Amino acid sequence: MRFLNKVAVITGAGKGIGFEIAGQLVHEGASVVLNDIDGRLARKAASKLMTAGQGKCVPFEGDASDVKVIAELVSFAVEQFGQLDIAIANAGTTVFGDFFEFNVEEFQKVVNLNLQGGFFLVQHAARQMREQGKGGKILVVSSTIGFRAYPNLTIYSMTKSALHMMAKSLVLELSPYSININAIAPGATITERTMLEAPDYENTWKDLIPLGKPARPSDIARPALMLLSDECNHVTGQTLIVDGGWTAASPYPNFFQTLEQLKFNGNGK
Ligand SMILES: NC(=O)c1ccc[n+]([C@@H]2O[C@H](COP(=O)([O-])OP(=O)(O)OC[C@H]3O[C@@H](n4cnc5c(N)ncnc54)[C@H](O)[C@@H]3O)[C@@H](O)[C@H]2O)c1
Repeated sequence: MRFLNKVAVITGAGKGIGFEIAGQLVHEGASVVLNDIDGRLARKAASKLMTAGQGKCVPFEGDASDVKVIAELVSFAVEQFGQLDIAIANAGTTVFGDFFEFNVEEFQKVVNLNLQGGFFLVQHAARQMREQGKGGKILVVSSTIGFRAYPNLTIYSMTKSALHMMAKSLVLELSPYSININAIAPGATITERTMLEAPDYENTWKDLIPLGKPARPSDIARPALMLLSDECNHVTGQTLIVDGGWTAASPYPNFFQTLEQLKFNGNGK
C-alpha cells in the first residue's frame, strides 16, 4: 500500500502500459484519474480498476495532446480527490513513415501528443503540486527508440529523446518544490497495439533481446511504480530503460550466432 491517500493522473491509460500502471497504483491504494481519448474505453477501464484494490479510479475522456484538455484533467483530479501527488504522461503515438515522404500533419500528430501533451501535463501538474507545497512525483513514458535509430520512426524517436532531456532539464525548476521528475523508456512490449501491428511480435523480438522475450505491460509498470514511490525520493532527472537488455547490446559481427550460443550455454545444454 505504498500509494494510500495519493492522487494520480495518467494519460492514454484505457489499455496497454498505462492501464497496467493505473491498475497497480489502484491496487496499492491510490485514487487515479484515468484519461483516454476513447471515452468508452476509459469508462470500461476505470470501472474494471475500481475493483482492483483499495484505491479508486475515475475516467476522464479527452485528447491528451490538447492543452485545454490537460488543464481540465488536472483540475478534475483536484475537484474529485482534493489534491494531486502523481502525474504520468503516458499517452504517445507512433507514426511509421518514409523520412522523404512525411508530411506536416503526421509530424504535428506525433509532436502534439508525445511532446506538447507531455510538456503541458508536467507543467499543469507541477503548478498544482507547487501550490500544495508537499512535493510530488512526475513520470514521462518515453521509449528505447529515444536512444536508438529505428527505420521509419524518426519523428517518434525525436520526441521520445526530447522527453529524456525534459526530465533532466526540469530538475532545476522542480527540485526546489520537492517534485521529482523521471522518465521510463520501455523496450518492445506486448500490448494490444503492438500485437495488431505485428501478430508475430513476441517471436520477432525474443531473438533480439538478451533476456529472450519482449516485456509485458506489468514488466514496465513495476519499475514505473518504484520511480513514483518513496523508495525513489532521491532519484530525479533520470531515464530508466526497461528493455531486457536490448539497448545495452549493439549488433557486431556474428551477433546473432553469439547470442544463440550464450543462450545455449545458459540453458546448460
Ligand atoms: N508498447 C510498446 O512496445 C512501447 C514501447 C516503448 C514505449 N511505449 C510508449 O508507452 C506509452 C504507452 O504505449 P502503449 O503501447 O501501451 O499504448 P497504446 O498505443 O496501446 O495506447 C494506449 C491508449 O492511449 C489512448 N490514446 C491514444 N491517443 C490518445 C490521445 N491523444 N489522448 C488520450 N489517449 C490517447 C488509446 O486510445 C489507447 O487506449 C506510449 O507513450 C508509447 O510510446 C510503448
